[in-house]
Amino acid sequence: MLAIIGGSGFAKLAGLGKARREVVRTPYGDPSCALTHGELDGRPIVFLARHGYGHTIAPHEINYRANVWALRRVEVTQVVAVATVGGIRADCVAGSLVVPDQIVDYTWGRKHTYFEGVEQPVTHIDFTWPYDAALRNQLLEAARRCGRPVIDGAVYGCTQGPRLETAAEIARLARDGCDLVGMTGMPEAALAREAGLAYASLCVVANQAAGLGASRAGISMPEIHTVLEATMGHVRTVLAELARA
Ligand code: HPA
Repeated sequence: MLAIIGGSGFAKLAGLGKARREVVRTPYGDPSCALTHGELDGRPIVFLARHGYGHTIAPHEINYRANVWALRRVEVTQVVAVATVGGIRADCVAGSLVVPDQIVDYTWGRKHTYFEGVEQPVTHIDFTWPYDAALRNQLLEAARRCGRPVIDGAVYGCTQGPRLETAAEIARLARDGCDLVGMTGMPEAALAREAGLAYASLCVVANQAAGLGASRAGISMPEIHTVLEATMGHVRTVLAELARA
């Protein structure tokens, strides 16, 4: 079973057939919202709005453990995480779709593992390649089949938020090799790996990162919303194609 986690600008999946909501409790507390079960192009899927249906939960306040646990509870095996990001690499311009292949984690203080406490064994998951290769390929193929340009491979730098970055922080991320910057990719990806779920991300570049190009003087939230509104239809098209496959 496929799950889609929707991020900013993607709190609902339009056109989900036979939708029904399910409240799932977890040992880690409540997920961001009830899960929505439905059909996307005839295939059963589960949808979860990462920030809640009303976009009320900030990136650092999201209960990532509960979200991933809830998906596993309902027999999900694959997770596509939709995320909005800032673009650092020159080709990651506003409106681009990107399937990243690496992560640098700058977050702090988030509950980031299931393996803690006296009852849990000390466990070190392999995270050399943080995204599932097969699911990444399925996403890339789906985008290509529906004629959507998509960038294959990028390093996602995950910042703590909720504020955007300074120009100097983005310059540092660039020196670290980051191509994209977002606030929600971690610990979500690591928890999915710990839970044994195949996880990949479809990123939408909403703006150039702080201090770069059009964002040299600052980042405009209204412009971000305009880009997201124009791009989220493409994301839905790619996800429907992925579900159809
Ligand atoms: N930085 C961090 N997260 C983001 C950005 C950004 O510039 N744009 C969209 N999400």
